[in-house]
Parts: sequence; C-alpha cells; structure tokens
Amino acid sequence: MAIVMSADGVAEAYGRWAPVYDLVFGPVFRRGRAAAVDAAEITGGRILEVGVGTGLSLGSYSKHSRVVGIDISQPMLEKARERVRNQKLDNVEAITVMDAERLDYPDASFDVVVAQYVVTAIPNPERALDEFVRVVRPGGAIIITTRIGAETGLRGTIEKLLMPITSRLGFRTEFSWARYEDWLRTSPKVSLLEKRALPPLGHFSLIRIARLPDAQPETHQKDR
Ligand SMILES: C[S@@+](CC[C@H](N)C(=O)[O-])C[C@H]1O[C@@H](n2cnc3c(N)ncnc32)[C@H](O)[C@@H]1O
Repeated sequence: MAIVMSADGVAEAYGRWAPVYDLVFGPVFRRGRAAAVDAAEITGGRILEVGVGTGLSLGSYSKHSRVVGIDISQPMLEKARERVRNQKLDNVEAITVMDAERLDYPDASFDVVVAQYVVTAIPNPERALDEFVRVVRPGGAIIITTRIGAETGLRGTIEKLLMPITSRLGFRTEFSWARYEDWLRTSPKVSLLEKRALPPLGHFSLIRIARLPDAQPETHQKDR
C-alpha cells in the first residue's frame, strides 16, 4: 500500500525533532553537508538552502555568498535563527517558513539551490524539484544530498517495511534513483553533472545538477 505523506504531518514531525535534531543528526551528516557546501561554492553567489532545518550548514558558506534558508518547520527555523545570531552570520539574508513545493520567489532569483537531506521528506518531491529549476538562474546549479534507496535485495525489502514508521518520523526510507532519473529525463532545462556516494555507508548521495543556459533564439545570416 502506498504511504501518503502530508506537508502538515512532516512539519509536525520536525517540530518534535527540533529540540534534539542537532544531537541526533548533527554528526552523522556532517561530511555530507560539507560536501554540499563545497559543491554550492563552485558557483557561489546567492544561494537558497531549502529545508535548512536548524541551520547546521549556514556557518560553512563563504562570507561572499548570500544565503536564504527556508523550511516548513517553524521550531527548526527558530534554532537556525538562533545560530545566525550567535555566529553573527551577516551573509544570511533571510530565514523563512516556506514549502519547497511552492517557493515564493521569482524565476531565476538564485545562483544555486541547495537541498540537503530534504527531498525524501517532501510529499511531492518532483514538484519541489521543478520549483528548484524555476528559481535557479540559467547557468546556475542545484545541489542535493539525499538518501538513495536500494531497489532490490534485503536492504530494499527492509526499507519498504520501514516506510510506515519513517514516514511518521518525517522522511522516506524507500526512494529509488530511478525516481530522480525519471524526473531528469522529463526536465529539459537541467543536466546531471555528478552523482557520488556519501558517508555514512554510501546510502546517501550528492547529486549536482546544472540549470542549462536558455536556448538562444536562432539568428539568421543576411544573404549577401
Ligand atoms: C532531515 S532534515 C534536514 C535539515 C538540514 N538540511 C540538515 O542537513 O540538517 C529535513 C528538513 O526538511 C524540512 N522539510 C520537510 N519538508 C519540507 C517542505 N515541503 N518544504 C520545506 N522544508 C521541508 C524539515 O522541516 C526538516 O527541517
């Protein structure tokens, strides 16, 4: 039976995680977060971090990058705001409650979109991925760190069985690479640059996607 996740349910789940999130998920994803920030800084500029959570990555961006963080959970964002104040992160422009499926920003308003450990928590991930493409400028980049589920075998079976539990905790364990491939195939404005396994155990990956430059209108050479 398909598990249906709702934005309200996910927000509630992360409201419960907020007080202990850094303790439980801080160290385990540290290297993945560092890899995502490094990948984002290849392009730099104005960066949107979607699902910024408690803001564990915010202090790692270059002081020259301007960062906007959005998340669906107010309690997670309160922690992020506290971090911005305590660390005096002047390059953080805004920390705002917003749903990744409906980004309240104009087209092409960021150089980079970063989404760390969030895609599998979003009820309609493909809708959010489309939004990332819309708000990033042509020539910009989308950086995702994400769980890639096993499609078969014992791990695949366990991940399917865990879904009723993990969906209530705010994320999916079952999420195949085929789902990203299908989305990439139907998204003409992007191209996959890189997919590499991340620690711990290689169950997570970093995905680097280019937002392709818009096609130039054809110019016709005048007949001489
Ligand atoms: C596993 S946490 C990752 C937090 C942070 N990126 C990190 O690396 O620690 C997932 C985050 O995504 C947020 N989230 C889930 N669904 C969302 C949505 N539809 N829109 C925006 N944020 C969402 C959750 O509230 C939570 O803060």
